[in-house]
Amino acid sequence: MEMIKKNTSKEKNEMLNEILNSHSISTVSLKKIFGDVSDDFWFWIFTDGFMEHPLLPRLLPAMPDEEIQCNFTGASGKATLMEAFSAYKLFKQVARDHSIDLTCCDAVLDFGCGWGRVTRFFLKEVEANCLYGIDCYKEMITLCEQSNMRCHFETIDPMPPTGFPNNMFDFVYCFSVFSHLSEEAHKKWLFEFQRILKPGGLLIATTRPRSFINQCANLRKRKDIEAFELGGAASFQNTEQSLLDYDYGKFCHDSTGGGGVLDKSFYGETCIPQKYVDKHWTKHFSSVDFIYDEEHKSFNQNVIAAKK
Ligand SMILES: C[S@@+](CC[C@H](N)C(=O)[O-])C[C@H]1O[C@@H](n2cnc3c(N)ncnc32)[C@H](O)[C@@H]1O
Repeated sequence: MEMIKKNTSKEKNEMLNEILNSHSISTVSLKKIFGDVSDDFWFWIFTDGFMEHPLLPRLLPAMPDEEIQCNFTGASGKATLMEAFSAYKLFKQVARDHSIDLTCCDAVLDFGCGWGRVTRFFLKEVEANCLYGIDCYKEMITLCEQSNMRCHFETIDPMPPTGFPNNMFDFVYCFSVFSHLSEEAHKKWLFEFQRILKPGGLLIATTRPRSFINQCANLRKRKDIEAFELGGAASFQNTEQSLLDYDYGKFCHDSTGGGGVLDKSFYGETCIPQKYVDKHWTKHFSSVDFIYDEEHKSFNQNVIAAKK
């Protein structure tokens, strides 16, 4: 059911009533209920619609406290959901480009799912019981479990292996996780994803762009930085050298730690250049693409797509 962006709130609520009335809500397959709505309407359902329509909070996940939203994703409310929605739309596009039909997937994994910000959007294409989310931050997994998403969530160790069997997943994605991992953690997780992906399965990971190195220098000049920006302000202190390293193809990581379980031994700020990906990821995957942020401008991360 395609929506025209300019529909009024009243019209959107009427459309929503029509959709909800034509399904038995007690069966609650969100894929069956919402599988045909447009992406724009899906975003409205999670934002304005969620606040306006009394049934939606019974069907869909709410968001955690504003402080948790900010600490984990650097923004809150509609802005943080918009960033996740942009990632979801781009990941779907990249999956399509790699001949992955999400509606036919048996198992999709959100690695470093946090409070389930991105996971929720995939409920339109993938049955909830085929969606998996893992994170080493127990409190985040608890929030996911309480969130009414009906997916599988699990707290894991920061280093692999997971308990998943070989060749289980059609698609693994990591939004804003490889943008923090050390080289050792990154290599170990790559190996693990190669193991748990089906042959022909797809891995998508995002990482900080080169411009992030300059952003860190700019953060250091500001007096009013927020808690979630502290890691950036402490990173890549030698800007010139870090930019040279990036251009040379070095793995650029500063081990700042992220608080709580996110220990310095594996967590900080990370910019992975394309030259590094071309050299190392191709050892594990049959095809590897590097998509620059400038091409889509929807969030401040580059995207790596690798097919097993
Ligand atoms: C910046 S947050 C992004 C969360 C989520 N992907 C999103 O976009 O909303 C990074 C997440 O990765 C998780 N994480 C970091 N290192 C991890 C590791 N080694 N194993 C599992 N989860 C990890 C953190 O706990 C955190 O929830």
